[in-house]
Amino acid sequence: MTTTLPPESQPGQPPKKKSNATIVNMVLDSCTFVAFILAMQPHGTGIPIHEWGSVALSFAIILHLVLHWDWISGITRKLLSQLPTETRLGYLLNLIFYIDMTVIILSGLLISKSVLPALGLSVDEHAGPWRRLHGLSADAGIVILALHVAMHRKWIVNVFQRYVWGRLTGQAKAGR
Ligand code: HEM
Ligand code: HEM
Repeated sequence: MTTTLPPESQPGQPPKKKSNATIVNMVLDSCTFVAFILAMQPHGTGIPIHEWGSVALSFAIILHLVLHWDWISGITRKLLSQLPTETRLGYLLNLIFYIDMTVIILSGLLISKSVLPALGLSVDEHAGPWRRLHGLSADAGIVILALHVAMHRKWIVNVFQRYVWGRLTGQAKAGR
């Protein structure tokens, strides 16, 4: 995909700002990944943690979209002109992911037993269809997440090699 790694910063030169952004993305992406996997186990974590954790995850995803706003607006503007097929597929997958996340969160709120009552709001007593929709959209979400992560596998491997493995072993190489 189009997200690339910045070159390692040289003494006295500015690319550090870009590598800071990469580290922010790495930390945020890792946290949202773990949060999504935990959200798939509502009975393992308990419902209050499931609900409040998922609300926090929703804000993390909004931040994820803000951090990639240049990519989103740039590709949206170029949709009618020529674009590589891989970029178009990535865009389509991201769009489906966005719609699915919206359905998961809204249906989750409609069956909420913890978050909405805490805010003094009551929810539908006949939540059966919303619960089914919530479960189905969550199952679709894990499949889409797997594809989303697979599309960014090179970025993930490079970033972990450079910023995690490289730092741990002291073997970070310039430009990798
Ligand atoms: C739920 C957990 C998610 C994880 C773990 C995740 C992970 C990632 C990773 C690893 C990247 C590439 C590295 C980067 O620049 O940050 C990325 C890019 C991106 N993600 Fe996500 N993402 C998630 C959810 C979403 C959702 C729900 C959307 C909704 C549209 C989304 C849209 C994007 C966009 C637009 C990009 C940049 C463009 C691209 O190269 O595809 N992500 N994400
Ligand atoms: C990424 C976000 C989320 C994911 C991946 C997710 C996933 C799931 C899954 C897989 C189930 C089990 C479905 C079933 O048994 O058929 C579930 C149940 C549930 N979820 Fe979520 N959910 C998310 C967000 C939310 C939110 C934001 C809320 C409410 C604020 C919520 C409230 C609930 C409730 C009340 C249940 C039913 C628990 C029960 O009594 O069995 N979820 N969720």
